[in-house]
Amino acid sequence: MKRLRLAGIGCGGRTRTYLELAAQMPERYEVVAAADPREERLQDTCKRVGNPNLRCFAFDEELLAAEKLADVIVIGTQDAYHVEPCIKAMKKGYDVLLEKPIATHLKDVLHLERVAEKLGRKVLICHVLRYSPFYCKIKDLVASGILGDIITINADEGIGPFHMSHSYVRGHWAKSPDAAPLIISKSCHDLDIIRWVIDQNCVSVASHGSLMHFTESNAPEGAPKRCTDGCPHTQNCTYNALGYTKRHRSWLQWIMDGGADASNDEVIEWLKTSKWGRCVYYCDNDVADHQTASMVFENGATATFTVSAFSHGRNIEIQGTKGRMYAGHNTKCQSGSDIIIHEHLTGNTTQYHVNTDGGGYDGHGGGDVGLMNALYDEMTNDKPMCSGLSASVESHVIGYAADAARLEGRLINLKEFILKHM
Ligand SMILES: NC(=O)c1ccc[n+]([C@@H]2O[C@H](COP(=O)([O-])OP(=O)(O)OC[C@H]3O[C@@H](n4cnc5c(N)ncnc54)[C@H](O)[C@@H]3O)[C@@H](O)[C@H]2O)c1
Repeated sequence: MKRLRLAGIGCGGRTRTYLELAAQMPERYEVVAAADPREERLQDTCKRVGNPNLRCFAFDEELLAAEKLADVIVIGTQDAYHVEPCIKAMKKGYDVLLEKPIATHLKDVLHLERVAEKLGRKVLICHVLRYSPFYCKIKDLVASGILGDIITINADEGIGPFHMSHSYVRGHWAKSPDAAPLIISKSCHDLDIIRWVIDQNCVSVASHGSLMHFTESNAPEGAPKRCTDGCPHTQNCTYNALGYTKRHRSWLQWIMDGGADASNDEVIEWLKTSKWGRCVYYCDNDVADHQTASMVFENGATATFTVSAFSHGRNIEIQGTKGRMYAGHNTKCQSGSDIIIHEHLTGNTTQYHVNTDGGGYDGHGGGDVGLMNALYDEMTNDKPMCSGLSASVESHVIGYAADAARLEGRLINLKEFILKHM
């Protein structure tokens, strides 16, 4: 078995996770190179993959200017810088494992798909939920025919208030044009799962939602611009940034270099200038904090999806001609099971437990490991890839159309929408 040589571009949390997992599968992968302008991240990558001879570069351009070093490039730079390195890597002859979202604008998503096709290169998108035991079980149950034909799906994703503030108010994915709309940056996974399970082309999308809460008009009286500036509301504020020194400390490792081991004083000093120290009501965020989309598919089946800052976990309900399925966070809380199926004819109820040791289905639920397990086969056989570029483009189109529908207050026909963005 020939080992796949991997190189990483953008060694943030995601790429380091994938490369570390790859290093734990030495029969399949060899991690050979990495690029990141932050020296400490390169050092951490070397440590995690256990390869002191890892070839390190400061920028993607330098890695891609060198002779071809690997078979597959893992690209985990920020959202607005996915397409450019991906095209350069493909031109150099690399196949690519690309983080989602594919791009922050639909025209770039469609452009990348055309370039990959022209160059004949493989691009696998990190739609990790497709590789998680929980969603694989749902897909298998639907394919078994136990639910009959799918008539409608209702799904939702609760981001959780502090997570929302960390990522979509103060953080990386708060503001266009650097960030994609929330329904893409947070929920392209969920739209992808709906499209995958229903296995039909989506024909039109309607949507509602807005940025309702995290705005200046909701700032409590007397709140300063930063939580470290003596805010009178720190004791009663869900979003108090000083929470990074206590309950929310685990987030620091992804945003503050050395954050995992920093003292509370060091964290507070960092918060005084970091964007994560800002009052959530005085940020420059513009992405929605709640949104609902409804979709119609080619055979007449429908789906609704809601993403909201003010709930927690993922849920999915699938109604079919022979039965209905309830699954996810609420099902687990109420019944202890991950998935419940009621059959219409017999009234029988079956409960399923899924091994979600990899983190529970409200995280990636074993999807990161699942993806790295699958990557070898995806890259070395000729079958269509599970989360290949074309499959993933479809759910991105749904998400971008949903955001346009929300902003324009109208139903969007997907074929027309694609033509407009080609
Ligand atoms: N699949 C998932 O479920 C999932 C989860 C979270 C994030 N993501 C996505 O993964 C991507 C990475 O997220 P992250 O949290 O690891 O981000 P991050 O900001 O921690 O990491 C990005 C890294 O890219 C580096 N970088 C910037 N410019 C570079 C260049 N020219 N050459 C090389 N490196 C460069 C930065 O220094 C940084 O270390 C994002 O697109 C994000 O949306 C996906």
